[in-house]
Amino acid sequence: MSRIPEETINTIREQTDIVQIISQYLQLRKSGQNYFASCPFHDDKTPSFSVSEKKQIYHCFSCGRGGNVFSFLQEMEGLTFVESVGKTAELADLSVDESVFEAARQSKPSADTLQGKLLNMYDKAQHFYHHILVNTKAGEEAYRYLIDRGMSKESIETFKIGFSPPQRQALKLYLENEKLDDPDVLKQSGLFSDRDDNTFVDRFSNRILFPITNAKGQTVAFSGRAFQQETDNHRTAKYMNSPETVLFNKRKIVFNYDKARASVRREGEVILFEGFMDVISAWEAGVKNGIATMGTSLTEEQIHVLDKVTDHVVIAYDGDNAGLEATKRAADFILKETHFTVDIATFPENLDPDDFIQSRGKEAFTDFLTHGRDTLTSFLIKYHRKDFNLKNESERLKYIEIVLQELARVSSAVERELYINQLSEEFDLSTDALKEQLHTFIVQKQNERRQEKRKEAHHAPEEPTQSIVIQHNQPKETALSRAEKALLHRLFTHDDVWSTIESLGKEVVFSDQDRQLLYILYDEYYHSHDYPSVQSFIDFLPDDRLKSKASEIAWISLGDEVANGEIEDYLSVIVDRQPIENRLNEKKAALKEAERSGDKAKQQSLSFEIINLIKQMQSK
Ligand code: CTP
Ligand code: MN
Repeated sequence: MSRIPEETINTIREQTDIVQIISQYLQLRKSGQNYFASCPFHDDKTPSFSVSEKKQIYHCFSCGRGGNVFSFLQEMEGLTFVESVGKTAELADLSVDESVFEAARQSKPSADTLQGKLLNMYDKAQHFYHHILVNTKAGEEAYRYLIDRGMSKESIETFKIGFSPPQRQALKLYLENEKLDDPDVLKQSGLFSDRDDNTFVDRFSNRILFPITNAKGQTVAFSGRAFQQETDNHRTAKYMNSPETVLFNKRKIVFNYDKARASVRREGEVILFEGFMDVISAWEAGVKNGIATMGTSLTEEQIHVLDKVTDHVVIAYDGDNAGLEATKRAADFILKETHFTVDIATFPENLDPDDFIQSRGKEAFTDFLTHGRDTLTSFLIKYHRKDFNLKNESERLKYIEIVLQELARVSSAVERELYINQLSEEFDLSTDALKEQLHTFIVQKQNERRQEKRKEAHHAPEEPTQSIVIQHNQPKETALSRAEKALLHRLFTHDDVWSTIESLGKEVVFSDQDRQLLYILYDEYYHSHDYPSVQSFIDFLPDDRLKSKASEIAWISLGDEVANGEIEDYLSVIVDRQPIENRLNEKKAALKEAERSGDKAKQQSLSFEIINLIKQMQSK
């Protein structure tokens, strides 16, 4: 591993504000002194992830991950430590000696791993296919097709669109020439089809290729579109995708996420399209926060990816019937399974967004997206309408009932009122009658929800809904573990605590293994660094788990000043109390056992012992 001088690392860290860096990835909301967001490292429905501006660390109250700005980027972007330092400097706009970045570049994920080899192969393939589309005779017809559809040359470059010629040999020969011919890698790449005789042919032939990129913008798959008139006896699927590989998981990938990310954060919303062509046309129209799935419905994994940058999605599917049904499904899913909010853009006259742009122009498109969209409720009101013949009275009543059922889910009273008025006007019914009916549905829904909750509570421990609650719900902390953490906290944050401990001449043994390890490592760290700090200690720690533990300890608030006798107090708890605490735990376990086996006499004697031990502890 290449080394960056520690001084440089410290300078970069000190000149960087962790809040500013993390907010380039997450939507942080300030609350009190700290910032909060949903944790990007686990499926977090509540904002449990917090960032301290003062301490320059982050910590998730739910999954326990934590660290400093470097460890955040390491985990978020899958970087090595050195890379994370370079990336921090880049994100913070710091001008640093170029050698830092050089070092970072040299330590890219090793090209020796299968993943590294596949990334390299896809990169080569993408350039090759793009070259064929743009610069060769073989690509001319495909190129024409795209231009005739209204795609700009600039987009062909931006999205690195390519073309695979019909012969099924081109890519294979090209890669062989590049000495990329390891049969195992060729096989794993998904770029080739295996023949019976163990030879490979190109998987994609005669298709326009859209590179699918991961969050870092690296090509990890292709989607290939057929573009010639199909004859009846020669029918091919319109799109063909790469198979899943170690690089490519359909459920996780979000088309255009890498390019859209910044704009999604800026706009506070992401636009979800059905097709690649829609994303690209919207991009040309200036709508840069568009993404698409791979022709599948939206998954929880994809929401998890998006959750890093927004929690509002605008569904902009095709305006035909299939699109409408897909919209309903997506909206139901988002509402039920995620904390995202939803708006809907339903394009008129069965148009898909791409058609809409081509036929009505870019301005009409952006205008429609901003002013023509529906709230979820107004979409549902329209959606249900198509199932009923409203001229028929009984169908009309059924429709109204369904709309009121939908309204019962709306939490805003103002919004409910608005739609009640609309219904009242359209169907000539009194608002009072409508409200009364709505009220019944609301009560019904509440009851259902309560019952569901009760059921859940039976099956699983209730999930806390607020980060604050999570803290309360955690098992009550013992005085011993509190003292151990506080001692480490003081040690990490105050230079002279180490000498205080040494001068007291007690051997400190922690009840928790990680804390013991942190103590030993801190000893080593402290004695080898001239300017110790909790931040550089985090860098010094060998793995994520310890970094998280150290940040958790740094996170504790104890006030800035170490009080007189404070360290001595911790030590007396840790050193004197621990044997008692250990015995207490043993006895408690034994008591449980005695209860299980029904041994009444033993239960009684153990209970006495426990009470005595507790008394002893309290007198300490
Ligand atoms: N799709 C697919 N396989 C197909 C058809 C569609 O995987 N046989 C996926 C593609 O990801 C496509 C999306 O479904 O982007 C939406 O389909 P469609 O609207 O038909 O495609 P567009 O991207 O709009 O392409 P075009 O406008 O060229 O028809
Ligand atoms: Mn289309």
